[in-house]
Amino acid sequence: MTRIDRLPRRRRELPLAGVLFALAAPALAGPRVDYLLHCAGCHLADGRGSPGAVPSLAGPLGRIAASPAGRDYLARVPGAAQAPISDEALAAVLNWLLLEFNRETLPPGFQPLSGSEVARSRARARVLADPLKLRRELWPDSTDY
Ligand code: HEC
Repeated sequence: MTRIDRLPRRRRELPLAGVLFALAAPALAGPRVDYLLHCAGCHLADGRGSPGAVPSLAGPLGRIAASPAGRDYLARVPGAAQAPISDEALAAVLNWLLLEFNRETLPPGFQPLSGSEVARSRARARVLADPLKLRRELWPDSTDY
């Protein structure tokens, strides 16, 4: 039997790298990671945003998610619609942040967004020209961010 310390250096390290990758990969994928990579730069890790500049994604979004137009809006705001991730991955991020940060305001019987629903919203308008204007129409009793 060949002792591992007699193998050339590369042959010793490659299998170990493969094992480490296989162990780490599941933790490096999924909506939480996509949120941290693509959204948290502006909205911050806990979703609180920056008053006056970036709206909070923590707390009131469940009320927007209560209507079809509001669900559509969530996927069409520029930061969401233009994120370099698939429709399925964006739906997963939106569902994750609704459940993680907005559970208290979600409507009863909330149905998670599907990839095809998000695809329709994104296809309708990849760029939402005036998000704040639409937000005031959809959500008249809200305060601006
Ligand atoms: C470059 C900064 C930036 C990034 C990155 C970003 N956003 Fe935003 N987001 C904003 C700003 C600013 C607004 C306010 C609307 C506008 O002006 O685009 C907003 C609005 C929103 C809203 C509407 C909130 C409300 O109360 O009306 C949602 C939902 C949202 N973003 C989700 C996301 C998601 C999900 C991601 C990641 C996939 C993301 N954003 C990435 C800056 C960003």
